[in-house]
Amino acid sequence: MEITSLIDRAISVLRNNDTGVFTKPGPHQYPHQWNWDSALIALGLSHFDLPRAKSEIRALLSGQWGDGMLPSVVYHSIPSDYFPNPEFWQIKNSPSAPSVPTTGITQPPLLATIVRIIHSRQPTPDFVQEVYPALLRWHRWLHTDRDADDTDLACIIHPWESGTDDSPRWLHLFEAIRPEAVPEFQRGDTRYVVAIERPNRTEYERFIYLIDVFRKLNYTPADLLAHSPFLAQDVLFNAILFRADEDLRTLAIELGQPTDEIDGWIKSMRKNFNDRFWDEETGLYYDFDLRSGSPIHVNTISTFLPLFGGLPSKDQARRLVEDHLLNPAEYAPAAEVRHWVTSTAKTEPTWEPRRYWRGPAWVITNWFVIEGLQRYDYHDLAEPIRQDTLDLVALSGFREYYDSRDGSGCGSTDFSWSAALTLELLKSPSLVHEK
Ligand code: GLC
Repeated sequence: MEITSLIDRAISVLRNNDTGVFTKPGPHQYPHQWNWDSALIALGLSHFDLPRAKSEIRALLSGQWGDGMLPSVVYHSIPSDYFPNPEFWQIKNSPSAPSVPTTGITQPPLLATIVRIIHSRQPTPDFVQEVYPALLRWHRWLHTDRDADDTDLACIIHPWESGTDDSPRWLHLFEAIRPEAVPEFQRGDTRYVVAIERPNRTEYERFIYLIDVFRKLNYTPADLLAHSPFLAQDVLFNAILFRADEDLRTLAIELGQPTDEIDGWIKSMRKNFNDRFWDEETGLYYDFDLRSGSPIHVNTISTFLPLFGGLPSKDQARRLVEDHLLNPAEYAPAAEVRHWVTSTAKTEPTWEPRRYWRGPAWVITNWFVIEGLQRYDYHDLAEPIRQDTLDLVALSGFREYYDSRDGSGCGSTDFSWSAALTLELLKSPSLVHEK
């Protein structure tokens, strides 16, 4: 397909999903404003409508909680058939809840990085000045209310906070969670997408059970850390946070703001990240289950996120790339699996080619891998993955995720971040040269 036509189609997906206030991640499946989706959508919008990119970010920040949390979803009082809805979350029980309806959990903190990228290309000092305090408050909340062990690593209390909702990384933790009673609920996610491409019922029940636990605790941060049955330190989340801290620091310097607090987070994370997550024997990064006090030995695409964060040494990066990414048994295309990059290693027994985060290729995670490879000078590998990602989009449209065997599309159609990142991949093939 012609590049110009792909650009036009990506722009029209973003325009069609635009409610005027925020952009829906998917027209039917995701009718509200999601946190990290919005950051990427703003990046996409910045290529053709900078004022709209800024208002996308302002709309997301309107959902910030009094304690600094930036929630995973801002509902914006738009009626929909989406579940769980604001009535289910009951955030009003918390004194920190904002006036606009939101969820009571967060998502990977990509926003400061996106603000920095946009600002470095099209300087917007007034906008940076406007949003900086909110970004700082969110990061401070992550490094305090979500620091369970004084490492400055943030923990997550729900798989939805990881952004990779039904990743097999969480299965073992879920086995230890035995809901006494799950509130009655009606799933909405299988209305527009076939069940085989969505999470299984057992996991879904636990997703809902956890929300019930949190609302009974009135979303009080200390109580969530003490009592959430699910408590983990996630590699993907923390790699994104580390990079976002560095970007926040760059913004602080430009604004003439002090950086001591941010410097402290960066120093402590740089040390603790590798100590906590790196597994010298396998050469992989593993998430950590804080409830059992042990690493989660599941090989998924999140092992490559530290490259995006600039955290591995050259040797660690080499092992990740040569032993795993290029290994046809795990991630590299081979035999029936022809496309980059499966969200779970094919060697995992839980690998499923069409089910959500169990195996399909996603444009977002491909973009993280491409950026990480560029950062470590693996340009010869980044380029075929970039090309393959664009081929998936050209072949099957802007889908939520793709079956990496034949490239067919799965999940939501007209998916916003797939469109936004297509613009990014076509117009700015690498961020590395923009530093
Ligand atoms: C799914 C994804 C999550 C994303 C949301 C909206 O829940 O797992 O990462 O933010 O959809 O697109």
